[in-house]
Amino acid sequence: MGQERKARAKRALLALTFCLMASAGPVWAAKAPPKAVSKTPMPQLVQKDGRYALMVDGAPFFVLSGQANNSSNYPAALPKVWPAIADLHANTLAMPIAWEQIEPTEGHFDFSFVDELVKQAREHNVRLDILWFGAWKNSNPNYTPDWVKTNNQRFPRLFKKDGSESYAMSPHYDATREADKKAYVALLNHLKAIDGDRHTVIMMQIENEVGVYGSARDYSPKGDALLAEQVPDAVLAKMHKPHGTWREVFGDDADEFSHAYAMARYVEDLAAAGKAAYPLPTYMNDSLKDPLNPKQPVETMDAGGPSYDVLDIYKATAPHVDLLAPDLYTPASNSYEASLNFYHRSDNALFIAESGNNALYARYLFTALGHQAIGFDPFGFDYTGYSNYPLGQKEWGPDQVKPFGTLYQLFEPMQRQWAALSFAGQVQGVSEPDDHASQTIDLGQWKATVSYRLWQFGMPEWDPQHKAGYPDGSDVPSGGVAIARLSDTTYLLIGVHARVSFDLAHDDGKHGLQIVSVEEGHYDAKGQWVFDRRWNGDETDYGLNFTGNPVVLKVTLAAYVKNNKDAMK
Ligand code: DGJ
Repeated sequence: MGQERKARAKRALLALTFCLMASAGPVWAAKAPPKAVSKTPMPQLVQKDGRYALMVDGAPFFVLSGQANNSSNYPAALPKVWPAIADLHANTLAMPIAWEQIEPTEGHFDFSFVDELVKQAREHNVRLDILWFGAWKNSNPNYTPDWVKTNNQRFPRLFKKDGSESYAMSPHYDATREADKKAYVALLNHLKAIDGDRHTVIMMQIENEVGVYGSARDYSPKGDALLAEQVPDAVLAKMHKPHGTWREVFGDDADEFSHAYAMARYVEDLAAAGKAAYPLPTYMNDSLKDPLNPKQPVETMDAGGPSYDVLDIYKATAPHVDLLAPDLYTPASNSYEASLNFYHRSDNALFIAESGNNALYARYLFTALGHQAIGFDPFGFDYTGYSNYPLGQKEWGPDQVKPFGTLYQLFEPMQRQWAALSFAGQVQGVSEPDDHASQTIDLGQWKATVSYRLWQFGMPEWDPQHKAGYPDGSDVPSGGVAIARLSDTTYLLIGVHARVSFDLAHDDGKHGLQIVSVEEGHYDAKGQWVFDRRWNGDETDYGLNFTGNPVVLKVTLAAYVKNNKDAMK
């Protein structure tokens, strides 16, 4: 019976994956796969009906990642990286590879760390997301080789409006772009050679938080000349604007917008060349503009990066960049949610490229799932002794990894099923807002109400003054729930610190809702559902209560027809 059920489940997953794949196409222009004999299909971002899946080994994959600290990209640091990734239960490690590291002397490449990293990732059964720290890292050229950093004539920095020279590279110089591209392509060729048959590396980030602080653009003659050029047709079409120069079309925004275009054009050149070498899914990350303050002065933001106001410019200019991703370091729930709304678009798969590692951010995994994200990658997950407080957690160690690790541990075995369901549009999710207000999830025939700060037993109206107090620690928002629809009546729930109650979406007086069954279970290492126990009685009478020990529930609901007393004998 158990075997039969397993076989059925496997067939169902295969069928689902096949159906989802049947009409899905690659996001970027189709290219011939690499000639090297590959044991597994190339990782690929696919799109269907405005939803996305990252295909790894031929099936949807949810990237449950941790990003190493910036200077953990050396063999000596790796023994302090893997234990944190193990505690996190991550399936992917995001690791920088720096230009200065692979091309210390111009034209002479050293891929020894890349080789070691890939080898050790395989030993730890973890995939890799490689972060290319090239001419921009947090807008800075600090990760370029010494021969680039110190040759300001060949690789010029940009100029500010007051005529002073900025710290940041100008995107207008062929010499910089060609040198950066040469190193980036060499890296991709090397990855293809060592990993083209295994696909341990599943994603590439080009540059890191490109742009410049303290200036809206490059005020050099080249930057001025661009501003006077006609805005390219692709940008105009995407933004539904009439013809004109950057200044004519965008007015006061023209400085920032033309700089974003120059950056996008630069990165597109690298992305296209990189994909021609080895077509890994490719993305850029952004140091966010305040999503709640459209009037944020441009000098106080990372100008030119793919911030929410210039996503269309990037989309029109850099088609080989598969997605533009937010780096989220503002824990306020309204801000986090607003940024996700900006980056979750039908033409842009949502990937949480970075997020703070304070426990407050763990619940946002559920918000990301609700936004059909392809992955979640909080920052600073290694034990090298660095902590980026106040952006992240003050102290750092296994206890701080735990709020993320408990969720990843539960989610990881079912991530492929979940990713397939998400690609099919069957997933919703929410996390606790800062004001702890309840939320409603529309499930068609049913609605789910998600509430926070409740005890496991009883109804809130029994104690409106909260005389019994609130559960320990619940003053800090930490709850979240995601729901995947398996059929019209059966749902998969994963949650933490939250209560979920179901009702009929519309009370017509003629129907009642009955919870048929609530199974607690888990997915095993092979991705098969394993039944652990049924919840009933106290465990279901007051809603389904998720504590700090998250669980997976399979819930079956039914609507029954109410009897009419007068018509009964
Ligand atoms: C965002 C950057 O992209 C990361 O590399 C890192 O510097 C964090 N900020 C801060 O620790």
